[in-house]
Amino acid sequence: MRTQVGIVGAGPAGLFLAHMLRRDGIDCVILESRSREYIEKRVRAGVLEQATVKLMHELGAGERLTREGMPDPRIDIRFSGGHIIVDLNELTPGKIVTVYGQQEVVKDLIAAWIARGGTIEFEAEALGFDGLNSERPSIRYRQNGREDTIECDFIAGCDGFHGVSRRAVPENILTHYDRIFPFGWLGIVAEARPLHEMTYANHEHGFALASRRGPHIARNYVQCAPDEDLARWPDARIWEELHLRLKDQGKSELGEGRILQKAVTPVRAYVTSPMQYGRLYLAGDAAHIVPPTGAKGLNLAAADVWVLARAFSEFFRTGLHMRLDRYSEVCLKRVWKAVRYSSYLTSLLHRFEQHTPFERKLQLTELEYLLGSKAARTTIAENYVGLPFQDD
Ligand code: FAD
Ligand code: DHB
Repeated sequence: MRTQVGIVGAGPAGLFLAHMLRRDGIDCVILESRSREYIEKRVRAGVLEQATVKLMHELGAGERLTREGMPDPRIDIRFSGGHIIVDLNELTPGKIVTVYGQQEVVKDLIAAWIARGGTIEFEAEALGFDGLNSERPSIRYRQNGREDTIECDFIAGCDGFHGVSRRAVPENILTHYDRIFPFGWLGIVAEARPLHEMTYANHEHGFALASRRGPHIARNYVQCAPDEDLARWPDARIWEELHLRLKDQGKSELGEGRILQKAVTPVRAYVTSPMQYGRLYLAGDAAHIVPPTGAKGLNLAAADVWVLARAFSEFFRTGLHMRLDRYSEVCLKRVWKAVRYSSYLTSLLHRFEQHTPFERKLQLTELEYLLGSKAARTTIAENYVGLPFQDD
């Protein structure tokens, strides 16, 4: 097989990239190690920034998103001192976020890709690359027990944090920046009435978040140990902690119901620099992960490949590689802003066991300040709705 851009991974990064390249007349092939069914069911993030929603529409994949996406014009942050309402619409004139599950984005992009005759190989696992420093790099992969090769002009490593792409870059080229927070998130999906708006909480017992996936489907999280044993969290304890931390004492706001899914997510920031080596370009979680607080992971993946698609388009149109050369530098500026913001929100909203009384006071004072200052809430809002996708 031969293609212009070989894309490893059919997560948001790989799928958005494929659609943008196709729109610009560039041929590409997607290799995905898992089955279609598996990736369409994998529950992960769920908050789309305005620019990500716009991209779905520009790519002709936004029809179901318009019908089923849930616009969120405000977020609510609860703590012992009160409720901080961050009115996104008012503070960032006209901007909001939309709640729509990542697996729905993936489903819509795959359906549109296949409908347009795009090539995607499922259960095709990239094993490694050859010739990354040549003009004809190739991908070795295994499918149905057979090994094969795709020759490309470029390779896009969109294979997530545990993929092969980042590891294919020689160690002496990369600098790794890493911060592991001393807690995790226990996330559930439940057939239950959600809170009516996105609600975060800082409580003595720890962080909590009430989100949703539909009018009758709740997506809730509670702070837990990083290596939490799920056996310690029977359903009743999860609901108790959610009511308590979200200050729903009367149990009247948050509905309870059957828990369909329960899993622990680590809270970690990681960035690799640079995000490119020879003709291999890393995008999304393959290059960086952010703590989930603030829901930036999926949107960052979309922002990276937005820059990458424009760089590939320039190259194939004109032969110029200025944008390709600057890819890492341009992406990393936005990536670090998202790391900063997600780390800030994480530090603001979680309980840190090692905090001294002084540090806890500072945390609560920061929340008090947000409660009283429109300027402080504006910086939360501006980042929550997402910084612009830009490539200069
Ligand atoms: P991915 O979505 O990881 O896609 C990579 C794809 O590559 C996968 O489909 C994988 O199967 C495939 N792949 C891997 N290796 C190979 C290979 N060798 N060959 C071929 N294919 C390969 N973010 C939030 O903002 N909020 C959240 O609540 C949240 N929850 C999360 C929960 C979990 C368990 C995880 C892992 C992540 C979560 N994230 C969350 C982060 C967010 O989902 C990611 O930032 C987003 O998925 C990044 O998209 P991506 O396309 O870069 O990577
Ligand atoms: C969701 C996830 C997040 O990380 C977040 O900050 C808000 C909402 C969600 O899964 O809906």
